[in-house]
Amino acid sequence: MSHFAVSLPEVIAVLPAAGIGSRMQADCPKQYLMAGGKTIIEHAILSLLGHPQIQQIIVVLHPQDTQFSTLPIAQDRRIRIVHGGEQRADSVMAGLQCAGQAEWVLVHDAARPCLHRDDLDQLLSIIGHSKVGGILAAPVRDTMKRSEAGVQAIAHTVDRQALWHALTPQLFPLELLKLCLSRALREGAVVTDEASALEHCGYHPILVSGRSDNIKVTRPEDLALAEFYLTRLHPMEKH
Ligand code: CTP
Ligand code: MG
Repeated sequence: MSHFAVSLPEVIAVLPAAGIGSRMQADCPKQYLMAGGKTIIEHAILSLLGHPQIQQIIVVLHPQDTQFSTLPIAQDRRIRIVHGGEQRADSVMAGLQCAGQAEWVLVHDAARPCLHRDDLDQLLSIIGHSKVGGILAAPVRDTMKRSEAGVQAIAHTVDRQALWHALTPQLFPLELLKLCLSRALREGAVVTDEASALEHCGYHPILVSGRSDNIKVTRPEDLALAEFYLTRLHPMEKH
């Protein structure tokens, strides 16, 4: 019997990267912008491939993507490519369709280059004690206000203790996520992250408190911030 007989469950990763980055207003989709010597998508991929429990990544690309195949990382044998769809949820669904038999699936935005290993470890540790899965999330720090619909005036203050920013990675049993996501899409639910699909089906995924520097590069001003965080994350590399 091998030393690894008590092996950890296999985790497959899906990386939605089929967006066009309209809010970023750059010349190319934002996942191909450089930050700290590499493209954003390379940072996102490397943060996952650095973990021994993640054996394979399905990268979901826009059908007209011409850039991914030019990156050195595209040659890595642990990467598979599929084409995405109209909305992020369609792209994730396309990725899940070819995820095979893995027990767990971890979904991570290609636009999040600053994932820390500690956060990834924390998230993966829920596998031992959850059948539903969970997400990295950051507690809200500002005082939160709710306005009346359509009126730009404060209706009341919302209890900040109960509010979180939903981040990625998000980790779920593969079959459960497939079931919930296909049902949510079929029933026209608003699905902006994987957890919303499970919520739609009555589940309550775990909130794993993560670092707030795990940002999604969304607007032009986010790029400099991501570059700064990357210098802290990889201090020995040339930037
Ligand atoms: N994404 C995807 N398929 C889509 C839309 C988005 O795979 N149809 C991916 C993006 O590539 C990104 C992640 O989902 O890695 C998060 O989406 P978002 O930040 O909204 O990226 P974009 O949709 O590209 O940006 P924007 O909304 O500004 O156009
Ligand atoms: Mg989008």
